[in-house]
Amino acid sequence: MATRKVRVIGDEILTKTCKPVKEMTPRIAELIEDMFETMYEENGVGLAASQVGVLRQIVTIDVDDGNQYVLINPEIVEMSGEQTGYEGCLSVPGKTGVVTRPSHVKVRALNEEMQPYELEGEGLLARAICHECDHLKGKLYVTMVEGELKDVDAEDEEESEE
Ligand code: NI
Repeated sequence: MATRKVRVIGDEILTKTCKPVKEMTPRIAELIEDMFETMYEENGVGLAASQVGVLRQIVTIDVDDGNQYVLINPEIVEMSGEQTGYEGCLSVPGKTGVVTRPSHVKVRALNEEMQPYELEGEGLLARAICHECDHLKGKLYVTMVEGELKDVDAEDEEESEE
């Protein structure tokens, strides 16, 4: 395992659409391990493969609910409710902004064994799923911010970022 360099806003790769994963390979398995390591190192709760420079539809999420979610080729199939709150992104360091997201989502994806499964999330998990699925489409949260993008206060730096 190794950490990978997180691409930051301005890097064109973050605006590109990721391609589906067709089969699990040792290379993809290693990428997923590296994504978790990178995400934990950077205190993030979610990471998309494009953020480490790989244009594949792979997302890792850990919102501290005891699970390490891997979503391969994810597709959000249900959304309901609404939540408005601060969001951040490892690719937009030092910034935060208010984004409205659904409060409940259901996503269909493949796991690391390439088996289909469904994951339902509320609150932070729902927010993370939406944020990371947007990355796979080349979309950053900064385009959805209500009001101004703000600098993160030093005392809030522990806040999780996606
Ligand atoms: Ni992000």
